[in-house]
Amino acid sequence: MRAVIVARMEAERIADQPLHGKLTGTSRRDFIVGIAAAGASTMGAVALQQTGLDLFSEEAFASHGRNRFSEFNAIAASSADALEVPDGFRADVLISWGDIFKTRSRRFRYGFNNDFLAYFPIDGSEEGLLFVNHEYPDPFFLHGYKPNASPKTAAQVQEEQDSVGNSILHVKRRRDGRWKVVSPSKYNRRIYGDRPDLKFTGPLVGAPGIGTSAHGSLGNCSGGVTPWGTAISCEENYDGYGSAVTTNIEFFYGWHQFGGQPEDAEYEFNTFKKYGWVCEHDPYDPDYVGRKHTALGRFRHENAAFRHVPGKQFVVYMGDDKANEGVYKFVSDRRFKKHDIANNRKILEAGQLYIARWEPEGRRRFATAGSTTPISATEGTGTWVAVQDSELDDTATKLRARFGTAEYDTHFATNRPEDVEVADNGHVFVALTNNSSVLDSHGSIRKLVEKNNNPEALEFAWRDYAAGGPTGSSDPGRQGFSSPDNLVFDDAGNLWVVTDISTTRLNRPNEYQYHANNAMFMIPTAGPNKGVAFRFANGPVECELTGPYFTPDEQTLFVNVQHPGETTGITATSPGIFGQEATYTSWWPEGNKTEDDTPSTPMPSTVAITRERARSARRPRRRRRKRH
Ligand code: FEO
Ligand code: CA
Ligand code: CA
Repeated sequence: MRAVIVARMEAERIADQPLHGKLTGTSRRDFIVGIAAAGASTMGAVALQQTGLDLFSEEAFASHGRNRFSEFNAIAASSADALEVPDGFRADVLISWGDIFKTRSRRFRYGFNNDFLAYFPIDGSEEGLLFVNHEYPDPFFLHGYKPNASPKTAAQVQEEQDSVGNSILHVKRRRDGRWKVVSPSKYNRRIYGDRPDLKFTGPLVGAPGIGTSAHGSLGNCSGGVTPWGTAISCEENYDGYGSAVTTNIEFFYGWHQFGGQPEDAEYEFNTFKKYGWVCEHDPYDPDYVGRKHTALGRFRHENAAFRHVPGKQFVVYMGDDKANEGVYKFVSDRRFKKHDIANNRKILEAGQLYIARWEPEGRRRFATAGSTTPISATEGTGTWVAVQDSELDDTATKLRARFGTAEYDTHFATNRPEDVEVADNGHVFVALTNNSSVLDSHGSIRKLVEKNNNPEALEFAWRDYAAGGPTGSSDPGRQGFSSPDNLVFDDAGNLWVVTDISTTRLNRPNEYQYHANNAMFMIPTAGPNKGVAFRFANGPVECELTGPYFTPDEQTLFVNVQHPGETTGITATSPGIFGQEATYTSWWPEGNKTEDDTPSTPMPSTVAITRERARSARRPRRRRRKRH
């Protein structure tokens, strides 16, 4: 069994130097992963081990070849403070929180808690731009703040605003197959929580609390790539920034209270409605003014998945990432026209928003927490119910008021939709992550098929396609996923799934113990292993893996490691003492807490996973970076 190398870019956080040429080496420790002894290859394994679900018919991806990543020895669950990938693959840290990247005249710090990412080609799969979301700050790691300590200072709020938003990062593959950040580059750019201004579009431009523009972007969770080549970034937990800092957790930031600038009042989310929208950016154009599209509603937007069928209106699917909230579809007034940029840039500005109404009910209910046998239907039908323009500014709240709680909870609520993805054949997959209010611990992936497979249809059929929870398999590589979050299809039609079990519940004596750390799985959608989840990667302690995205040639899988060591400073009594790295709950990527090796500050990072090429025996120099 060969070792897998995890390396990180030895970029300066502060020194005013270009990054290129600095991808100097591996970390000082290699580690062994894989379950070769158990022989769990995805090839040739035929037993379907599932948790009581029927599957829809086979997905057809006949036109596509196979994916370079889809043959691997699935790995076992792990609690190690390490990023683990199968034998024959390598995972290299490309860039981490705080690393500097530049244009000729400006320098930027890579933001915190990278979530969505997408690759925009410049030169095929060799050189391109990464568009990355930085979802939320961790005040403890930024400046030592713990909840219920003392009010924040304006400078601390500014540091938080600087750590979120988006990064546009020029990247290039080197001859040895590894990736580097190109810096300086005219493409390198940041969007922050308070700047630059983004322009509102659509029916609510000028409305009270909205106006014509917003200062920056926040809560940038997942997103999408439009067929016309722009990046979509979805503002999710917008209500955490203008909430009082009185709750005993760190995710209430109080920017409106402590920001110190008049415009910080706009983070209050009831009077002002500046955040909580679907945003659009052009990564290729540094002068492009980002848009916030009011026609797509304001809720906890997770991501946006597109469907274009020639001769039909352009359609967008979206989830509201909150327990007991819904799945949405936007049908544009416009059609996508391949070479008509002016038309395409207006596609998200006008159309009709719908919410899914599920029959017999939307939620997957269980009798006990941890159960894998639902007591509610696992398939049914549904209709798309129109949202009115007057409901777009606080969509879920106003729909609940219109329908009443009983009707809403039965027919519109779901088990917290994270990513939505559209397969090549038009079938829509929704990650329903979990929902403790209906005792759904492990979540599921639901498939929705429009009537006659017509994107404009107002009726659909649905079926729960793959269920989370322990499979009971004796094979360590397929013991089941839990709490699915981001989804991505490869060209061969395999569905790749990352998990988001809450960090406060990971590796504790509970129903998630079998799963250990959050992980990435591959689920074939056809063939003998259809529906089986094979474990491909394990994240380090208390992280979730986010934003998996393949280059066009599918020789690189980019993925983000978000919030490693998250519980370090999460409450007033959490173990972390600011500046004392030994007290932090993860030391990744520079150290490894579970090996008691090199106390370090855990850093959200973007990682490139590739197949290993011939490996140099050289053991490169490793540089320790100072955090504080
Ligand atoms: Fe940001 Fe929906 O997870
Ligand atoms: Ca997510
Ligand atoms: Ca999540």
